[in-house]
Amino acid sequence: MNAYLFLKQAHMGFAFTSIALFALRYGAMLCYPRLLGWKIVRIVPHVVDTFLLVCGVALAILLHIDPVRQPWLLAKIAGLIAYVILGTLALKRGKTREARMAAGVLALLAVGYIVAVAFSKRALPF
Ligand code: HEM
Repeated sequence: MNAYLFLKQAHMGFAFTSIALFALRYGAMLCYPRLLGWKIVRIVPHVVDTFLLVCGVALAILLHIDPVRQPWLLAKIAGLIAYVILGTLALKRGKTREARMAAGVLALLAVGYIVAVAFSKRALPF
């Protein structure tokens, strides 16, 4: 397997693991918040997200994709920032349960947008 295929499959694997872990933690926040305090639940998503980002940046370098010239990549990076901020509000920083619930739904919409951009290679995929 060449470096491109390896990085792309790793990137996609980390992306879907990141989304699954977020959805599970969101479910835990609603039904079993004590779980969010577990060390493994706090650490593993950060490790996955770091590898997701590293593989994404490595792919962009390998393919010589300049985010300034390729709006879809810039859109993914902006979407990732929104996903991180909304995810933090949903799991930790939201002041009320309602605010955390709304932030969680918006975080899932943000990551859905990122996946749509990734597959379509368009900043406006819909
Ligand atoms: C939650 C965040 C992200 C998700 C869910 C995600 C998802 C994906 C998916 C599903 C693909 C495969 C698309 C295909 O088969 O054509 C992909 C490709 C790619 N992603 Fe991401 N990504 C994320 C963040 C990033 C970031 C932050 C970067 C760069 C800084 C990045 C750079 C790339 C590149 C360069 C490709 C390869 C495009 C190609 O093969 O032509 N991604 N991403």
